[in-house]
Amino acid sequence: MTGNPVIPSPSTSLRVNWSRDLSMNILAIETSCDETAAAVVEDGTKIVSNVVASSTKMHEKYGGIVPEVAAREQLRCIIPVITEALVGSSLKNIDAIAVTVGPGLIGSLLVGVETAKTIAFATGKPIIPVNHVLAHMYANFLDSDQKNLHFPAISLVVSGGHTELYLMKSIKDLTWLGGTLDDAAGECFDKTARLLGFGHGGGLAIQVAAKKCQMLHDKCQIKLPRPLLHDDTLNFSFSGLKTAVMREWKKYEDHSEELINTFAHEIQESITDVLVEKTLRAAKKYHAQSILVSGGVAANLRLREKFLTKLRSNNITNLTFHAPSPQLCTDNAVIIAAAAYFRGSFILSEVEGPTDWHTITAVPNLSVEEI
Ligand code: KG4
Ligand code: ZN
Repeated sequence: MTGNPVIPSPSTSLRVNWSRDLSMNILAIETSCDETAAAVVEDGTKIVSNVVASSTKMHEKYGGIVPEVAAREQLRCIIPVITEALVGSSLKNIDAIAVTVGPGLIGSLLVGVETAKTIAFATGKPIIPVNHVLAHMYANFLDSDQKNLHFPAISLVVSGGHTELYLMKSIKDLTWLGGTLDDAAGECFDKTARLLGFGHGGGLAIQVAAKKCQMLHDKCQIKLPRPLLHDDTLNFSFSGLKTAVMREWKKYEDHSEELINTFAHEIQESITDVLVEKTLRAAKKYHAQSILVSGGVAANLRLREKFLTKLRSNNITNLTFHAPSPQLCTDNAVIIAAAAYFRGSFILSEVEGPTDWHTITAVPNLSVEEI
């Protein structure tokens, strides 16, 4: 083929009026990493379907996610996953398509973005681009007791790729306050879990092993640092912790189950201490009334317990704590629909509201501040 392909001009039917008060049935697609997900959500809150396929296990033998393998799995799963999400609904009843445009792996993102564009083109429906990191925090508006959720709020998004703190003055008004300077908390969980002999996605494995640890904390022979706990910023750093774990681990020849559980316990304590402390500090500084946590690491039961215990033991009664159900913490498309509903087209378009498919593109390094 020679020359540039001819791209048809946008049909006027794509230019719908957008109002947050409209009833909105959204088909959402998420393919930023190793999960292929689709969901139908009504009005940003009512989950009609939520389908997630994961290639996580396929990467186990490589010791990390292989982008090429993830992209091929996205291609294999995308149509069956969307088809399943639409069981019981019809594309005719969908008002808009929401899709993750970044950040993420380019090969994976492209599968979701191009599929969403194709559906939008074929059906004449508008498309809403969504920032994956920001989408995590909208799980809090689907799931938690919103009666007690007040602004300003501090939102901690903590996942395999990100550890970010935001000030939320309203559901749409976000300011980035700080984030990790190197590894994300989830990445630290995953890498140290692998060292302890657990497979990929090891945050949950560390949580389970830590629970079996019989060692009283002050008697624990393994002492790990709490990185950046006492610095003045709201930033995090977890790569040094991973190195410290490796150094400690090498001191022992017999890696018994008891030792593994003790390591898991201390790793979890170190990561959760820093996350809780910095989030509470941000809440104090910005006079927050609610704390929202989200992202895969927010599924961690010790993290949730620590937040609640800290609030209780310090008699902090003017600050409510919110976390989505664990299955809405890890990657899924329901959060993409919720973000699309509550924020509209907030990334690539100056204009509020759904965008036409011509303007949508995958942005692997989409900034966590691009809101
Ligand atoms: O949000 P997510 O599914 O994907 C990203 O956007 O990165 O988060 C995945 C991360 C992984 O690092 C995984 O180990 C961690 O969330 N994770 C947990 C738990 N469940 C998942 N970390 C600690 N405790 C858990 N229970
Ligand atoms: Zn995620």
